Amino acid sequence: MQGKTRSSCEIIYQNACQVIPGGVNSPVRNFSDVEVSPLIVDRAIGDTIYDADSNTYIDYCTSWGALILGHSPDPVVKVLEKQLKQGTSFGISTSYEYEIAKKIVELVPSVEKVRFVSTGTEATMTAIRLARGYTKKPLIIKFQGNYHGHHDALLVQSGSSVSYLNPEATSQGVLPSSIQETITLPYNDKKALDDFFASEKKDDVAAVIIEPIAGNMGVIPAKHAFLQALKECSKKHNFLLIFDEVISGFRVGLEGAQGYYGILPDLTCFGKIVGGGLPAALIGGKAEVMDLLAPIGEVFQAGTLSGNPLAMRAGLATLKVLERDGIYEELEEKTRVITDPIREELKNTPHSIHSIGSMFSIFWNVKNPQNKTDLAHLDMDLFKQYFQFLLKKGIYIPQSPFETSFVSLAHSRENLQYTRDVILEFIKLKK
Ligand SMILES: Cc1ncc(COP(=O)(O)O)c(C=O)c1O
Repeated sequence: MQGKTRSSCEIIYQNACQVIPGGVNSPVRNFSDVEVSPLIVDRAIGDTIYDADSNTYIDYCTSWGALILGHSPDPVVKVLEKQLKQGTSFGISTSYEYEIAKKIVELVPSVEKVRFVSTGTEATMTAIRLARGYTKKPLIIKFQGNYHGHHDALLVQSGSSVSYLNPEATSQGVLPSSIQETITLPYNDKKALDDFFASEKKDDVAAVIIEPIAGNMGVIPAKHAFLQALKECSKKHNFLLIFDEVISGFRVGLEGAQGYYGILPDLTCFGKIVGGGLPAALIGGKAEVMDLLAPIGEVFQAGTLSGNPLAMRAGLATLKVLERDGIYEELEEKTRVITDPIREELKNTPHSIHSIGSMFSIFWNVKNPQNKTDLAHLDMDLFKQYFQFLLKKGIYIPQSPFETSFVSLAHSRENLQYTRDVILEFIKLKK
């Protein structure tokens, strides 16, 4: 389990830096914020990844939450093996697109129709366009610390790894004109919401987009009353309420966060789990809104690999496993092997842990945050030490304090108990 010298990883990384900016295809993979040379994965199975130096790590990133069944689960591998011999992409329709769409419509009460895309970024971008097309209004409200992907209109005061880049604003290259119609408000802050909807802009809003269970500033679930207030506002001011369930969809239950809270949005974005580890995401919602998409309606959206058969079959195989009795209870019970003793251990410390279903995160030097402002005094250095301590002991968690750890069905009891003990050891060391 113990990490060894990672010489092959370092060589591959240094070579990659010659031809890929920062050596990575997504910034957080660089590990520079935690001052560790990045992992280079060779393979993974179940709950364990093997790096290029044959070190093993119990994986709590699980491809940023996409792999709820763990790495290379049999039901997914089986359908992929078949499909690989039958063609990987056609750019025209297959029956699998219909099958998974039907399954999602059956499972998620707010969804009557879906359109598949390849990434969560495309899903939220399309949802925004659809909302503006439907309402014929310009403004979008998002919440500080929520991350909805990397398209211009929503890359404002985002969570996830953008928090490191520029916590206040956005990315270079985003024109002020692209974000002047994006309003950002504090998460879970009903007063700020009420103040906005008392302003002269109140009837110019096309959509409010929210992560109902935020997973990009650590795990911070929305307050029920806050989501309820948003729902009421959407009726009163005729805008679309969009739930970004790219993380929470099929993670906290078959109906996602909307089922957990009993509050139905107008549109939902799903990603990660719906692709079963392959690139797929979707926008779903009322038929009346969804039918505005081309070719029926005049809101344009398209994609070369959208709904490709590998992702559709992997996603469908994953959803079929998740439908089995007791799966979400099992996931939560596994997660509590780690979270219950840690919650107890953190009681009389300045730190805290949040968990919901199979998501959890520890906030170093912050007690039970409700939004991004509450994270102002997050101890980044202590997070770095925590990350490095776990990595040395053969445990890989997402390399940012703004990300979420995920438990999968493949996590063994032995590895969960080992992880719990290592985290408890770290907490005791720091007391
Ligand atoms: C809540 C949320 N929405 C959207 C996205 C963007 O998805 P993708 O990285 O597939 O573009 C992410 C990515 O992590 C996310 O966490």
